[in-house]
Amino acid sequence: MEKQLLALLTVTLLTSAAYFMNGKDGSLTLEGQFSSWKQQHGKRYSDFEEVHRFSVFAQNLAVVMEHNSKFELGQETFTLGMNQFADLTPEEFQASYLTLKPQAQERQNVKSFSGLRFPDTVDWKEGLTVKNQGNCGSCWAFSAAAALEAALHHQKKEKVNISEQEFVDCTTAKLGYESEGCNGGWMDDAFDYTVNYGVATEEEYPYKGVDQACKTGLKKKYYIDSFVDVEPLSSDALHEAIAKTPVSVAIKADGIMFQLYSGGIYSRTCSAKKIDDLNHGVLAVGYAKDSYTIKNSWGAGWGEKGYMRLAIIAAKEGQCGIHWVPSYPVF
Ligand SMILES: *[C@@H]1O[C@H](CO)[C@@H](O)[C@H](O)[C@H]1NC(C)=O
Repeated sequence: MEKQLLALLTVTLLTSAAYFMNGKDGSLTLEGQFSSWKQQHGKRYSDFEEVHRFSVFAQNLAVVMEHNSKFELGQETFTLGMNQFADLTPEEFQASYLTLKPQAQERQNVKSFSGLRFPDTVDWKEGLTVKNQGNCGSCWAFSAAAALEAALHHQKKEKVNISEQEFVDCTTAKLGYESEGCNGGWMDDAFDYTVNYGVATEEEYPYKGVDQACKTGLKKKYYIDSFVDVEPLSSDALHEAIAKTPVSVAIKADGIMFQLYSGGIYSRTCSAKKIDDLNHGVLAVGYAKDSYTIKNSWGAGWGEKGYMRLAIIAAKEGQCGIHWVPSYPVF
């Protein structure tokens, strides 16, 4: 009896949660909510999978509602939302999307903090396009391509989409790199490849989100002269680098809060005490007094139109390990 009551209460809570989430139609049941979410995100499942996805969706909805009510009370600094990842468990999410392969080897061409003053705020978002890596662990290729695009746009006034697919297909063991395409990789591999072989535009080498054979004989190649590894564990060095140009950074994207982040300043602790803990590559495109702004590659439906603000914290490794391995290309 008590169990039934509890179950009833849970369903009622979830249903009213659905009501407040949607705001348009108070009569939507949890099933109705799920079905409109599926439609919005173009999701289709087999009957067998549907049962599992519905239960994950309901659990995630409960997490989102509870978290957001804490935000309303001023107990959290960021909000969550039922985005395109709302049918995945954190474990499923991690396996598909958090696939950075950190390389702990010696950093090269390391740039230390000069000691000079840097601006109080920096924002490079203007003119950048948020992309979507899809169901392929290519965050590292998107981070590197985004760094190249942003530098070309801001330094050379050139608007171009760089081919992530070329990094996925070509920056592999065949050429002596450790990156493994959709299984994960490393931004500095992509930069090193661009120094040695150049990279095509997205137009010439479009994104497929699967591993393919490396295409050769491409025409339009962008080369860089070198790339810089920013002094690790230094907030000042990272600030100074971002003030110069957007910087590829590796972070530890931790669990459900990261997966369903929808806005505000992300201040949860992510345990990133060593380079091996890092699992995601993004692009740092600015900072303010209290936060870094990062550009993600999960589409504009995630976070703040595809971006996230990470709290600036005292720990040397920075929020979610952002100070560990920043790097940027040099033209
Ligand atoms: C880059 O790609 C986006 C779509 O992903 C498109 O809107 C934009 O026009 C492209 N930019 C250039 C310079 O081709």
